[in-house]
Amino acid sequence: MIALGCDHGGLELKNTIIDYLKKNNIEYKDFGTYTSDSVDYPVYGKAVARAVASGECEKGILVCGTGIGISISANKVKGIRCALCHDVFSAKATREHNDANVLAMGGRVIGAGPALEVVKAFLETPFSNDERHIRRISQIEE
Ligand code: RB5
Repeated sequence: MIALGCDHGGLELKNTIIDYLKKNNIEYKDFGTYTSDSVDYPVYGKAVARAVASGECEKGILVCGTGIGISISANKVKGIRCALCHDVFSAKATREHNDANVLAMGGRVIGAGPALEVVKAFLETPFSNDERHIRRISQIEE
């Protein structure tokens, strides 16, 4: 189950991601926002982060205007490693090296086509399980 969240700046891209998940039979839970009314990105960043941290959802995807505010918010929740990625290399690397459990993107930064490539890389790339990466991730929580 993938947790989704956005603010008004990320609504359009989140809806594009929902279409992608539906086409690929990937289950998701949408934590909002659902309209283009101006809202506060921390509400949605933290709602998705809490769903992932609790185990309710396996991973999360967040979108705001830049991806910055919503990723900062998500990373305040213990156990969350939210990575702001606008390219496939970073999305793969953050799964392999950081075991990132939430992806953030900016709806005003990246177009739909590249964004879906980033989503695909994030969802399909496994964690490396390398000892050095496990060690470094555990240091994040210290
Ligand atoms: C909203 O206007 C905008 O500030 C927000 O979507 C995001 O870019 C914040 O980091």
